[in-house]
Amino acid sequence: MSIAYLNGQWSKPEDAKISVFDRGFMFGDGVYEVMPVYHGHIFTLDQHIARLKRSMAEVRIQSPLDASAWKALLEEAVSRSAEHNALIYLQVTRGIASERSHVYPEVSPTILVTVTPSEFDEQTIKPISVICKTDFRWARGDIKVVSLIANGMLKNQAMDEGFDDAILIRDGLVTEGTSSNVFAVKDRVLWTPPKSEYLLHGITRDQTIELARGHGLEVREENIQENFLKQADEIWLTASGLEILPVGKVNGQTVGNGCVGETWYLMKKAFQEEILKAIEKID
Ligand code: PDD
Repeated sequence: MSIAYLNGQWSKPEDAKISVFDRGFMFGDGVYEVMPVYHGHIFTLDQHIARLKRSMAEVRIQSPLDASAWKALLEEAVSRSAEHNALIYLQVTRGIASERSHVYPEVSPTILVTVTPSEFDEQTIKPISVICKTDFRWARGDIKVVSLIANGMLKNQAMDEGFDDAILIRDGLVTEGTSSNVFAVKDRVLWTPPKSEYLLHGITRDQTIELARGHGLEVREENIQENFLKQADEIWLTASGLEILPVGKVNGQTVGNGCVGETWYLMKKAFQEEILKAIEKID
C-alpha cells in the first residue's frame, strides 16, 4: 500500500497536503533521495542518508534529524506500507515562509516521505534508445535538488523526437543521463565520467564500479567523448530502481549488436547477488 509521511503525519499520499508557501513549491528549494526497497529492506540506505546530508549542507538546510533518526523514519515508512518491493521518495525542503524572499528564512524544514510499490521485472529488460543532447542544466548536478525542470525538459525533448531518453553532453563530454549515470564498455573495460560538480554522484554508479572491480573488470573513471559512444560495445544507464539498464541505440546508431551485452549479464548477476547478500545480512 502506498503511504506518505509529512511533518509527523502518516496518511495516504493523496491526502498529504502542503502549504503554497512551502519553499519547495515556491523556489524548488529542497533536496531529495530515491531509494529502492527489495524484500522489505532499503538497499544502500547508509549511502543515501550520507548523500542527503551532503545535499542539505550544500544548500544550507540544517538536517532536522540525525542519521539514525532518518534511518528509523524510513524503515518505519517501509514497515507501515507493508511493501516488499518499492521505491521510497524522501524530500526535505527549507520549510514554509509566508514572505516570498530569496533570503533564506529561519524556518523548520518540511519532511516528506512516500513509499510506492514497484515491481522490478527482470523478464522485461529491453535495451533502450537514447539521443545525445546538450547539457544546459546548472553546473551543480552533484547536489540532488528537487528543481528538475531542466532534466524534465531534456527527457521530454528526447521522447518527442522518438527516443526513450537522453545522454547529456557538456563541452563534448558525457555528463550523465536525465535521471541516471552513464557507463560505456569497450573491450571489457568499463568507462564512466569522473565525479564532478556537473553530475550526480550516483549510488548505483558506485555500486556498479565496486562490483565490476570485484569481478576482475577494469573500470576507468575518465572523461568520455561523445564520439566514444559510437565505438562502445555496450552502454548502460544506472540509477536506483533502474539498476543497470542497457542502451541499444545512440543517436539512431546500434550499440554493439543492439542486444544486451555479455558484460551487462555479468554485472546484472553480480547486482542481484549483492542485493541478496544485503538482505541476508539484515535478516
Ligand atoms: N535519479 N543522475 C541523475 C540526474 C539522477 O536523477 C539520478 C537518480 C542518478 C542516479 O543516482 P542513484 O544511482 O543514486 O539513484 C544520476 C533518481 C532515481 C530520480 O530522480 O528518480
